[in-house]
Amino acid sequence: MTIPVTSFPKSEIKILLLENIHASAQEIFRGEGFAVESLPGAVKEAELIERIRDVHVLGIRSKTMVTARALAEARRLLAVGCFCIGTNQVALRAAGQAGTPVFNAPFSNTRSVAEMIIAEIVFLARQLGDRSREVHAGQWRKVAVGCHEVRGKTLGIIGYGHIGTQVAILAEAFGMRVLYYDIASKLPVGNVRAVPTLAELLGASDFVTLHVPETPQTKGMIGAEELAHMKQGGYLLNASRGTVVDIAALAAAVRSGHVAGAAVDVYPEEPEGKSDDFGSELRGLPNVILTPHIGGSTEEAQEAIGREVATSLVKLVNSGTTTGAVNFPQVELAVSPGAHRILNVHRNVPGVLRDINKLVSDLGANIRSQLLATDADVGYLVMDLDHDVSDEVKRGIAALETSIKTRILY
Ligand code: NAI
Repeated sequence: MTIPVTSFPKSEIKILLLENIHASAQEIFRGEGFAVESLPGAVKEAELIERIRDVHVLGIRSKTMVTARALAEARRLLAVGCFCIGTNQVALRAAGQAGTPVFNAPFSNTRSVAEMIIAEIVFLARQLGDRSREVHAGQWRKVAVGCHEVRGKTLGIIGYGHIGTQVAILAEAFGMRVLYYDIASKLPVGNVRAVPTLAELLGASDFVTLHVPETPQTKGMIGAEELAHMKQGGYLLNASRGTVVDIAALAAAVRSGHVAGAAVDVYPEEPEGKSDDFGSELRGLPNVILTPHIGGSTEEAQEAIGREVATSLVKLVNSGTTTGAVNFPQVELAVSPGAHRILNVHRNVPGVLRDINKLVSDLGANIRSQLLATDADVGYLVMDLDHDVSDEVKRGIAALETSIKTRILY
C-alpha cells in the first residue's frame, strides 16, 4: 500500500537486509523508494550493534540473533522483519517494550508443505522410495503386493489449520475421503468431515497426517498407544514438529508391520546446519521416507516469504499498521484522505489516552479517528487529525513521561 503524501522523504528510510533475503522483498522496498542494503550472511551481535544504529527496518532470517543489547542501540528502528516462520531469534519482549513490532511469514510456505504431503501419500502407498533405492542399487524388484491406489482411501488430518486445509483440498481432488480432528471448531471445506476424538480419527484412517503446532498438548501426541489405535497397515506422515511423534514407538510400529510406512520431515532433535551423521531409529526401515525438514523449502515459498514480510513492513512504515506483528498490539486504521496521522507507543498505564486527547484538543485539532490497542507492556495509538498541528502535537506527546516512541506519518 502506498500513501501519496508522507512527511518523511522515503529515500531516507534505510532498510538493512541480512542472510540473503529473496529479491522479491528488495523489489518491494525499492518500489517504495526506500534505501536498501542487502548482505549475504548473518552478522554477530557486535556487528549488528554497529549496523542497527541508523536503520529503520532490519530484515533477517533465522541465523541473526537480535538481542536486547542490539535493540538498545537502535536509534531509529521502526520494525524487524523475520523472513521465515520462527521468531525466537529476536528478543521479542525487549523489542515490544522499545516500541518495535516484529513480523514474520507464517503462511507463505503452506502450499509447499501440502504438496509434499500429497506426493508422500502416493509414495508410501506404492513403496516408491524403496523401489527407487533398489533400482539405484541395480535391483529389479517388480512388486504389486502391498501397493495401493489412494483413490477411495481415507486420509485423517490432525490439525485442520492452514496446511491441513490445503492438504484436504488436494486429497479430495485425488478421490480420497478426508476426515480431520482439531481442538478448535473449524468450517470444513468440500466434503471433509470432522471427527470428535483423536482415537476415532486414528481408527478410521488409512493415512494419518499431522499438521498441529508445537504445544504442551501436542508434545508426544502420537505414541505407542495412538499408533496401536491406527488401522493395521496404515501410514503415518509428520511434517509438523518433531516433538509430536514418539520416534521410538513409530519405529517399533513399522518394524512390527502394524504401520505399513511413514514419512517424517521433522525430528525431536535436528542438526543446526548441514550434517553427515544424522541419527534416527527410523533410518533403514522399509517404506519410511525421511526428509531433512524441507516441507516448506521451495523457491516459491522463499519468494512468497519475501513478499509477505516486505508488505507487512511497508504497511508499518507508511501507515503504522501492525497487523500480523508477533510481539505487539495489532492496529490497522484505514487511510483517510486529507488527514494527518500520528503514531504513539507508550507504557501501558492508565490515563495516557486522556492526556493525549487533552493535548490535541488544547491545540484546537479535531480527532478524525483514533485506534488504540494494548498488550501487557505497551499501548499503541494511531490517530488521524483534521488539522496539520502534528509538530506541536508530536512534541507534546513525545514529552509525556509515558511515551516510548512517537512518529508523524503525514
Ligand atoms: P495453523 O496454526 O494454521 O494450524 C494448526 C491447527 O492445529 C489449528 O487448526 C489448531 O486449532 C490445531 N491444533 C492445535 N492444537 C491441537 C491439538 N492438540 N489437537 C488437534 N488440533 C490442534 O498451522 P499451520 O500453518 O497449518 O502449520 C501446522 C504445523 O506445520 C506447525 O507445527 C508448523 O510449525 C508446521 N510447519 C512445518 C513446515 C515444514 O517445513 N515441515 C513448514 C511450515 C509449517
